Amino acid sequence: MKRSVTIAAALTTALLLGCAQQFAGIKSMRGDDVAAADHAAPVHEYQGAKPGLQQKIVRTFEGQPPLIPHAVTNFDEITLEENQCMSCHSREKSKEKNAPVVGDSHFFNPATNKVEIKLSMARHNCTQCHVPQVDAPPLVGNQFVGYQKQ
Ligand code: HEC
Ligand code: HEC
Repeated sequence: MKRSVTIAAALTTALLLGCAQQFAGIKSMRGDDVAAADHAAPVHEYQGAKPGLQQKIVRTFEGQPPLIPHAVTNFDEITLEENQCMSCHSREKSKEKNAPVVGDSHFFNPATNKVEIKLSMARHNCTQCHVPQVDAPPLVGNQFVGYQKQ
């Protein structure tokens, strides 16, 4: 009995040593101090003044959803029923508001496979594709060069 306990202890020790060796060199991204604060990226304010005061931002690749040059912080959230963006960017309002009208592609309804008078619901959530701007260094470095700059 005593002997088998000793063998079991020896085996466990060997197993633990094996594991320790296998994981040697692997470090946790957070380090040893779990209580240390996370290094989240700092929060930046969106740029741009109210619509009507900005230049459009040059597009850098074919098919790019144009970037939003103006402030959006004071607009209501886009909900199923409401979309404040369309109070300026719809065909009906764009002239009066002096705003660019949504692209023709936005009237193509993939459900019916037809171009319709009404904005397609597939385009309802504008900020899924069009993004406001912040002045911040890229989180991850890259070597992208837009076609306008080549
Ligand atoms: C009060 C009117 C108004 C509202 C509301 C508004 N915009 Fe605009 N938008 C403009 C005007 C005017 C421009 C032209 C640039 C400028 O003057 O800021 C513009 C420019 C843009 C552009 C650039 C188009 C291009 O061809 O470069 C995009 C994209 C855009 N808006 C998306 C949005 C989205 C998304 C929302 C809702 C979150 C929104 N806008 C709400 C008036 C408005
Ligand atoms: C699924 C992605 C997507 C969604 C959602 C979307 N757009 Fe676009 N938008 C694009 C792309 C891509 C372009 C450029 C090519 C084109 O016109 O189709 C564009 C172009 C535009 C333009 C410039 C049109 C021009 O004359 O070149 C405006 C303004 C615009 N969108 C506004 C909006 C608004 C407002 C909404 C919400 C009601 C919206 N978009 C939803 C992808 C999207």
